[in-house]
Amino acid sequence: MSSSPNSPIVCSLPRVTIVGAGRVGSTLAQRVAEKNLADVVLLDIIAGMPQGLALDLMEARGIEIHNRQIIGTNNYADTSGSQIVVITAGLPRKPGMSRDDLLKTNAKIVVEAAKNAIAHSPNAIFIVVTNPLDVMTYLAWQATGLPRDRIMGMAGVLDSARFETFIALELGVLPADVKAMVLGSHGDLMVPLSRYATVNGIPITELLDVATIERLVERTRNGGAEIVELMQTGGAFFAPASATSVMVESILLNQSRLLPVAAYLQGEYGLEDVVIGVPCRLGCGGIESILELNLSDREREGLHTSAQSVRKSIERSQEILAE
Ligand code: LAC
Repeated sequence: MSSSPNSPIVCSLPRVTIVGAGRVGSTLAQRVAEKNLADVVLLDIIAGMPQGLALDLMEARGIEIHNRQIIGTNNYADTSGSQIVVITAGLPRKPGMSRDDLLKTNAKIVVEAAKNAIAHSPNAIFIVVTNPLDVMTYLAWQATGLPRDRIMGMAGVLDSARFETFIALELGVLPADVKAMVLGSHGDLMVPLSRYATVNGIPITELLDVATIERLVERTRNGGAEIVELMQTGGAFFAPASATSVMVESILLNQSRLLPVAAYLQGEYGLEDVVIGVPCRLGCGGIESILELNLSDREREGLHTSAQSVRKSIERSQEILAE
């Protein structure tokens, strides 16, 4: 017999580690805990900061009515045994900067975070959020040596949510009734798939003219920068945290949601050895499958152009890491 009736029951609650307690990381900690998905370990290099944020979130538990633990720490040992590790560490954009301008500062930060986190949670699934997103996901994949189904980047869910928002605003309909998918890299070369966007099943091409759709696509491509320009200090964090929490939820609850996710490709869409946003089924094993959509020539060309630019940044990142 493996246990007697008097053996203590060991309750092992899922644990999500968030590396980087900036605005995206701390808002994600709030979403994960308040959605009751998992206990959260919030880690940052700044002494006291994650501890303070964790205490603040803990003090909200009675009001928000949940009982999840939120631990703030500067020590990777406290992250051990996490089911999911989310990396948000790194510098955000300033006005006028592209996501690629962040390459130099963030490459080393993400590699170090990934190595430290995998050492304490060898079975975790990793989600990278730091920009430039597709390159940082590639670097984290290299640094951890994880199989590709256990490492991914968050961007497509956010870019799709922005596209859906702009469509909903234009049509005056409930945002949740709009479904859209944005593929490609998280940047100016992202590929919003207008012909697959619908309002409760009705293609938006039936509801909006070509020029309007093009305007909404452009606004989506510029969605992150629009917020950076408005805020002047830092960038978006509410929607990025929501988008990441949906991925965490689909993995922890094994929901098998089909979401656009930055994944390491091995031949899908004719692309090899590059990370880019494609539709993936997310479940308890991480990326359970990659869906290969039939793309038009223009969409396929857009995806390949996008991949080409990620590839260049990956090459640049290898030089930076070797410096
Ligand atoms: C944005 C950042 C998260 O798009 O890249 O707002």
